[in-house]
Order: sequence, then structure tokens, then C-alpha cells
Amino acid sequence: MMDQQKPDLEQLKQDLSAAIDVATGLDTLDAVRVHALGKNGVVTNLLKTLGGMSPEERKVEGPRINGLRSEIAGAIEAKKDALAAEELAERMASETLDLSLPPKDTPKGSVHPVSQVMDELAEIFADLGFAVATGPEIEDDWHNFTALNIPESHPARAMHDTFYFGENQMRDGMPMMLRTHTSPVQIRTMTSGEPPFRIIAPGRTYRSDSDATHTPMFHQVEGLVIDRDITMGHLKWTLETFVKAFFERDDIVLRFRPSYFPFTEPSAEIDMGFSVENGRRIVGGDPNGPDGGWMELGGSGMVNRHVIAACNLDPDEWQGFAFGCGIDRLAMLKYGMDDLRAFFDGDLRWIEHYGFSALDVPTLSAGVGA
Ligand code: DAH
Repeated sequence: MMDQQKPDLEQLKQDLSAAIDVATGLDTLDAVRVHALGKNGVVTNLLKTLGGMSPEERKVEGPRINGLRSEIAGAIEAKKDALAAEELAERMASETLDLSLPPKDTPKGSVHPVSQVMDELAEIFADLGFAVATGPEIEDDWHNFTALNIPESHPARAMHDTFYFGENQMRDGMPMMLRTHTSPVQIRTMTSGEPPFRIIAPGRTYRSDSDATHTPMFHQVEGLVIDRDITMGHLKWTLETFVKAFFERDDIVLRFRPSYFPFTEPSAEIDMGFSVENGRRIVGGDPNGPDGGWMELGGSGMVNRHVIAACNLDPDEWQGFAFGCGIDRLAMLKYGMDDLRAFFDGDLRWIEHYGFSALDVPTLSAGVGA
């Protein structure tokens, strides 16, 4: 009698195996799993009957039912893997990748001419043994003026059209401002290291001034060499070597005009000779030829001993030269833009035209030109 009630495990196994076989997708396969092994599945219910059996009977039926369960579970897993493999093969066949197609043209950024020129400056001066130094754009009165030998009542302060911060934003009792030149980096360099020094300091500077050749924010590069036996001859050679490398011409002549800066003594303004080639004014050539002349490069001189002393160095032991030039104008002269304001307008058409590739790293040996 018991025998009659016994389910036909063999038949059940065949039925379930057939259902697994014909399953064509993960959904139908999962339905078979639930039907067999789910909470109320046929195999699960069989397992539940083990509890009501006599120990002898369980000894026989237990392994049979459990065996069936693991066989079905194994078959479902195997089928699942097969279906996944099939699906992958199908996808690989349908989603082919044509590696010979040209890539989509995505917009690329470009390097602003000012950044490009700063990179070129760093490259050229690195070859001459100069490091790049930096300083804050928000400066205090001492670094921007006083230590540079520009005392409180000095007319040079008024000449700088300084952007001051309010009286409630003083630091250590000192007025704060947007730096009016890169010269305070001279002070920061001399007060934070040991001489000798050989640095350039390119960066942003600010003055309350705006027209076609002046913008409230502009860029300068400062140069400073401090050692024991530096002369104006070194200054002249350094600047000549720099302009020749920068403009990539050997026929550039410089002219030193006596001038005045509080932080240098003696001081000179430096002019570069220009000539006209193909109707265009270019740096180099004969300044005394037809249409030739001189244009300003920047200010320079031997660092004033008051400045060296303000930095706690002995001016009888240490001396050297300094110079300062506008970077924006260097870029305009080299790359042929004529309105400084366009540099800072953020017009994409302008930067697409005048910008440089980020991969175009300037080096002296490979040339710095575009
Ligand atoms: N700081 C000056 C300015 O902005 C430029 C300058 C002149 C810098 C002479 C120097 C220098 O280092 O020696 O007008």
C-alpha cells in the first residue's frame, strides 16, 4: 500500500528535466525552478514528507529525494550557464565594433596663449638655470611696497592704481591689496631661502586701469638673480638670450635706457629693436632701417641695497639684478593679437583660433613656436 503512494521519482525527474531542456530563456527556466524547488515546489514538498516517515523508510527515501533535488538544482544551474553563454554569443554577433571607423570628433580644450607663453618662459629660463617662484595675489603693504623701497609717502604708490581691501581686512595692522606687480615675489624669495637665487616669477597682477592695452588683471614675469659677483653685463646677456630664444630670431638688438625704479639702482628700461616685414611689425631686424624702431620690453636694474637689507641679507656680500616684463604683450607680439581685452573675454572662437594644443609642450630643442 505504501508502495502505491510512493511518487514516481523517475517520472518526475524526466518531466522536470524535459522542462529544463526546453526552457529558452532565463524567465522560463526560473519558473521551472520555482515549480520544482520553490517553497511549495514539487521536490520541496517531497522533502517535507521525509519527516512523517519511519526511520527505515527515511533511510531509503531520503537519499532518493535529496538526490533528485540536487540533480534538478544542478541541471537548472547548468542550463542557466548555457543560456547566459548563448545570450553573450548572440550579443557578440549582433554588436560588432568596427575599429576602423574614425573616432567621433569631441571638442578639445586648448591652452590659452598666456599659459603657453608662461610655459615657454619657464622652459627658456630653466635652460639658463632659473627656477620658477610664486607668491600670493593678495599681498600686504610690506611685500608689495615697503620692502621694495617704496615707503608710505612715495609717489610710486600712487602710480600703481592699487586695488586695496577694506580697513576691516587688514592683516597684522597692514593694509592688504591685490598685488600691483610680481616684484613682491623677489621679497618672498629672498626672505624664505638662502642665496644665491636665480628665479623667474610669472603670474597675475592687478591695477585699476582699462583700455585697449590695459586690463585690470594682467600678467607679468619677474626675474631675480642674487649672488656675489653679478653685474649689469649678466642682466644684458640674460635678457638678450631670452628674447632671442622666445622670438626665435638671432637678430634682435636690445637698448638699455636709464630710468628710475625704487627697487633697483641703477635702473634701466629695456627696449627691443623692431622692423617691418611683409607689412607686419616684428621684433628683430634693423631698428634703424625704414619703418624700424624700438618698443618697450620692461624694466630692470641692479637690486637696490635697501631691498637686499630689508630681506635681512648683507648688501655688501649679496647683490644682483632684477627685471619685470608684461607677459600679455609678449604673447601679442609673438602670436599677432592686437587687442589685449580679447585675452580675458572668454570668447570660445578666439581661444579656438589663438589657443594651443595641450600636447604641444614647448621645448627649446623642438622650438617654442606654434
Ligand atoms: N615692478 C615694475 C612694474 O610693475 C617692473 C619692474 C621694473 C620690475 C624694474 C623689476 C625691475 O624687477 O627691476 O612697473
